[in-house]
Amino acid sequence: FDVTWDAAAAEKGGWSSFMAKEVSEEPDAVANTVRGRIHDGAVVIPELDGLDDLFRGIHRILVIACGTAAYAGQVGKYALEQWARVPVDVELAHEFRYRDPVLDSGTLVVSISQSGETMDTLMAVKYARERGAKTLSICNTQGATIPRESDAIVYTHAGPEVAVASTKAFVAQITALYLLALHVGRVRGVLSEGDSAQAVAELEGVADKIAWILTHEQERTTQLARWMADTRSVLFLGRHVGFPIALEGALKLKEISYIHAEGFAAGELKHGPIALIEPGQPVFVIVPSPVFSPLLHDKVVSNIQEIRARGARVIVIAEEGDAAVLPFADEVLRIPLAGPLFEPLLAVVPLHIFAMGLAEAKGLDVDQPRNLAKSVTVE
Ligand code: AGP
Repeated sequence: FDVTWDAAAAEKGGWSSFMAKEVSEEPDAVANTVRGRIHDGAVVIPELDGLDDLFRGIHRILVIACGTAAYAGQVGKYALEQWARVPVDVELAHEFRYRDPVLDSGTLVVSISQSGETMDTLMAVKYARERGAKTLSICNTQGATIPRESDAIVYTHAGPEVAVASTKAFVAQITALYLLALHVGRVRGVLSEGDSAQAVAELEGVADKIAWILTHEQERTTQLARWMADTRSVLFLGRHVGFPIALEGALKLKEISYIHAEGFAAGELKHGPIALIEPGQPVFVIVPSPVFSPLLHDKVVSNIQEIRARGARVIVIAEEGDAAVLPFADEVLRIPLAGPLFEPLLAVVPLHIFAMGLAEAKGLDVDQPRNLAKSVTVE
């Protein structure tokens, strides 16, 4: 028999694409980023040893990034404010540099970059440092330029990410931001032991929950993508920490399947976007946990009713056991129960799978989409 040794296939570990391989590695990306940073039930990031005074001396955090990394930052904002009790703003690096921001030594600029070479983010970090801000780099590439330009570094351990569309690095970035929030909250003495222990227990359970989704929902999600291969526009709705996930889901779909997609805060619908809803319009809705966020859950269910009444084709991402969504959903993609700040790490997985499945169904190059580069090293 003829064994044609396909080096590229071998490099992908037998997966159909690097993106498929990297989505399958999302559980390990989270687990490896957590590993070595939990001691006696508390988060202690060894690379930040000796920086306690820096963290005690800041009065605000500015998160700076681009694209998917910026969406990770928007999720991380909730954790940093809840656990570290420091006001947080999230800015696109290429916008930050061209305004006249108020910066001082009490500002901690947290940059997020998978490659650590994104020119927009690098120039923003340099700009902030020149104006007296402290800088901390969350990066997936050891020894890259941005970490080398920073006062402190928290590496993600997602492993090399080859596909242009970032997936495992994204969940690792959120994980690193949560670890940072818990570390800084502990150092500043504002995080209770109970809250810390609960968050640590959740963090330690995320990898298995993502693995559950890959085992139980990947097939159905990919099949759904195939059925929707002719779709020309998809909307994504989320609320609270689900809103950045809606943005991430839209970006993934845009960048690898070339379909128009847009993410909205669910509460924005009545302020304009609901005019886009017409019969058959596919809308993904990330539904908050009915257990941990009952108020937000019910608001999103009423958003679903509003768009369904106008003919939308509703695909919900909802926690197992959430029966309230069933009467209004055309498709239900299940995720395991997780604490309120931990749902984003799970809800994003079906969206990564969906984007990949739709691009494959269209016969597109999932790993190297048109017009894009893995690292944007030009301004
Ligand atoms: C992600 O899917 C995109 N390829 C892109 O938005 C990327 O996240 C952005 O260019 C930032 O890259 P970085 O994380 O390497 O800085």
